[in-house]
Amino acid sequence: MYLKKILGGFLVLVSFLATAQNEIVVNTDLGKETISKDIYGHFSEHLGHCIYGGYWVGEDSNIPNTNGIRNDVVDALKEIAIPNLRWPGGCFADEYHWMDGIGSRDERPTMINTHWGGVTEDNSFGTHEFLELCSQLDCEPVICGNLGSGTPQEMSQWVEYLNSGNVSPMTDLRKANGREEPWGVKYWGVGNESWGCGGNMTAQFYADNMRRFSTFTKNYGENRLYKVACGPNVDDYNWMETLMKNGNPGGSFQGISLHYYTVCHTWRQKGSATQFDEKEYFTTMDKTLFMDELLRNHITIMDKYDPRNRVGLIVDEWGNWHDVEPGTNPGFLYQQNTLRDAMVASVNLDLFNKYCRRVKMANIAQTVNVLQAMILTQDGEMVKTPSYYVFKMYKVHHDATLLPSDVTCDNYTYEEESVPAISTTASKAADGKIHITLSNLDPHNSKEVLCEMRGTDKLSFVTGSIVTGDKINSYNDFGKKEEVSLKDFKDVKVNGNSLTVKMPAKSIVMIELN
Ligand code: AHR
Repeated sequence: MYLKKILGGFLVLVSFLATAQNEIVVNTDLGKETISKDIYGHFSEHLGHCIYGGYWVGEDSNIPNTNGIRNDVVDALKEIAIPNLRWPGGCFADEYHWMDGIGSRDERPTMINTHWGGVTEDNSFGTHEFLELCSQLDCEPVICGNLGSGTPQEMSQWVEYLNSGNVSPMTDLRKANGREEPWGVKYWGVGNESWGCGGNMTAQFYADNMRRFSTFTKNYGENRLYKVACGPNVDDYNWMETLMKNGNPGGSFQGISLHYYTVCHTWRQKGSATQFDEKEYFTTMDKTLFMDELLRNHITIMDKYDPRNRVGLIVDEWGNWHDVEPGTNPGFLYQQNTLRDAMVASVNLDLFNKYCRRVKMANIAQTVNVLQAMILTQDGEMVKTPSYYVFKMYKVHHDATLLPSDVTCDNYTYEEESVPAISTTASKAADGKIHITLSNLDPHNSKEVLCEMRGTDKLSFVTGSIVTGDKINSYNDFGKKEEVSLKDFKDVKVNGNSLTVKMPAKSIVMIELN
């Protein structure tokens, strides 16, 4: 009888271990790095209908607005607490002359937006309008200066216009344009993609120019500029090495950028945002996970030249880049956004969190109507995309302490190739609550995930949420019910200091524990 009981217990344990293939050990007592909320930043360029129509409709528009900026878009972005916004580009930044975008709107000169559709830019959205937008969003402005076609004087004067409280020509001009107090802008990009659209420079030529331009961008008052040098294109490790070696890190720049877009096929034919099969879904997951290797390798170079970790890695352009929606202007980069995009968002955010010792900011491209957007608009209508809901879910990690975790998980295999099926982040908030976000990349199989919370005795489940959809290409569109949104999730069992989470296939979940 006694033997039978032991045997029974043994069998239960064996069968439990056989099914518990997904296990995460979270070290709740070993957290030391902060996940900067700036990792959840955004990027908005003068491109297609991101600025015009996306945010800016003008004061006389029928679309409800405050000082020309749409209320619905601001309200939606406030819900995801966007911490910072990068502007005016992108490639546009290196052909933008800021003085064209100040003063009376009727008198502002026009220009041609040569990169994005060759359309005429009337400069009605300029410095004051951007800073008004940031103030409505309650977020930090990140301004990218023009190193490619501008001069050190032009860049220097823009910083003076923004930040100086002294008596000076730029201060007077700002006041004449209706702004008495300096804005105190902290984040400043010294050119964009200078290896490409920003001037086709070599790494050494850029390093020298960046040092020169940076010399003339000054600190005013209490404000200390955080200058972001143009960093590498994807895996250009030579660019990173040259900048870290010869660019005066910590002096001429405090952050260095990295750009990596996930492109399913090729740059010529990227593939549809909505009409894709499992092979393309798998390829997208595989390609987006390359971000792990990129971050690891670039950080290794940064560690070599900056062992004190003074310089931040700023991933200021990332996300999925698909073909434009049929019938739309190819130069406007308007694409739909499905559950696949949501998965790309969660996987990348997990990676930025994982490397948060070095990754101090990231900006998904681009907030409204362009590339992997949070929001799509059509006249007065607005749609929240699946990616939006991931950013909403991940708010719990803003400025929380990263809890180091060890993950053992199944693979998601397609034909002969595999990627890890589970991606995760665990963090502890200032109020002591623990949050775990988990993504199950496998589109067919649900996963039972055992989380062992080392360093704590007893936990209780507070709340949970989930982002999923019926299909990998479920998406939200104008005039129809949302297919993907943020819903309550309760499929969690807590036992002492461990918990079992039952994740549906192709889902992203968040668990809050006390
Ligand atoms: O985000 C679209 C473009 O992609 C940006 O303007 C440029 O920096 C990058 O190549």
